Amino acid sequence: MPERNAEFFNHELQKKITSQFLYLNENPNGNERLFFENAGGSLRLKSTVEAQAKMSSLPDCPERTHDIALDIRKAIEDGTKDIRLFLNAKDGSIATALTASKLMFEMVTTIAAAKQNGNIVTTAIEHPSSYDACQFASEQYNHELRVAEADPESGSIPLENILALIDDETVLVSIILTSNITGAMHNIEQYAKAIREKNPSAYIVVDAVQGAPHGVIDVDAWKIDALNIAPYKMFGNRGVGFAYLSDRVASFPHHRLLATDKDNWNVGSPTPANFAAFTKVIDYICEIGAFYTSSTDRRTLIVEGMHRIHLQEQALLNRLLNGTAGRPGTKQMPNVKVHFEEANGISQDLILALTFDNISCAKAVEKYGNHNILLFARESSSHYSRRILEAVDLDAIVRVSPIHCHTAKDVDRFLEVTQLIAEDKI
Ligand SMILES: Cc1ncc(COP(=O)(O)O)c(C=O)c1O
Repeated sequence: MPERNAEFFNHELQKKITSQFLYLNENPNGNERLFFENAGGSLRLKSTVEAQAKMSSLPDCPERTHDIALDIRKAIEDGTKDIRLFLNAKDGSIATALTASKLMFEMVTTIAAAKQNGNIVTTAIEHPSSYDACQFASEQYNHELRVAEADPESGSIPLENILALIDDETVLVSIILTSNITGAMHNIEQYAKAIREKNPSAYIVVDAVQGAPHGVIDVDAWKIDALNIAPYKMFGNRGVGFAYLSDRVASFPHHRLLATDKDNWNVGSPTPANFAAFTKVIDYICEIGAFYTSSTDRRTLIVEGMHRIHLQEQALLNRLLNGTAGRPGTKQMPNVKVHFEEANGISQDLILALTFDNISCAKAVEKYGNHNILLFARESSSHYSRRILEAVDLDAIVRVSPIHCHTAKDVDRFLEVTQLIAEDKI
């Protein structure tokens, strides 16, 4: 199995990063807190919150010609350029909506309407936003819904399970970039190529909400038709989702003010603050990139920044799994089972799915909470988790989801508490 490519940020960069986040070590009440629940909404940058507030304070309509209106319009244009750069979207359209889920429904139903009586292929570990959109669209347009099975060991969808379901009548294939429950990452470039070889006219839709904060996205290289992200999962704010639509789907009949361009996916007035805040996210990623490259090209800086974020996160993951000379990792602890990672190898994102032999997931999360570590138990009692957990033969997991701004010291604190729980000492 290939070695995990991992490297911690140097001290100077880590210090800079630490200073830019809100509530990294304390909750808003001033109580110590280790926030390892970033898959539910990530720690956010001060700059994004400030930009959001500043832009939201302006009453001006951007459709006017006075100075402030022009500034606001420029923020929207710059933000849109940054979305394109982040996704490497050189063609097609960018869409916004209040949530990534809403965008997914819009994209899937629009594509599904292109044909009747075909089939839609999705996977057993999709988030409900894409799975339900596929089911809904299948019912609306008389398509058969086909669901690719997961490999319970890795918590991923093997490519052959998807390919086996695709035929000439396949309208749409929906695949998640990174699972928000198992942490399995799919190689979308490879998957999309194989899907296109089997059926070049099938439209490929990717849910990148969980994957976006952890690695490089490149819709140009991946050659897919639709992809969504959510800034609140990637150091930004809640209240908006962004999506890319390829040239071949952007002009499909869709909800649109009819006087606007056929490939326009923004219905009504955009919210300038969402664009200004996203530009701050991209500025931040570029700042990390600039530590390692002298390029001034913004996409190059984004790619380098995301690559470095990935390396830092893989170093955190290594430590979570294997500990250090003086401290056992989760893999070495009695009563602790780490799911998926072993089978996933380098395709495991910085999400650990744990279960304990001596205690329920809910109880473990409570104990972590008592020791100021915030985690989440994904349980089959929740409609967000049930289908996915069943697909990987589990009933519940403790989800551990730090992000790159965390440090080796944070991981050590987590391991210390984990060992106490595993040994029934707390
Ligand atoms: C993988 C994935 N896709 C989609 C979504 C939906 O995001 P939202 O609820 O913001 O629409 C989430 C949210 O948790 C997610 O984790």
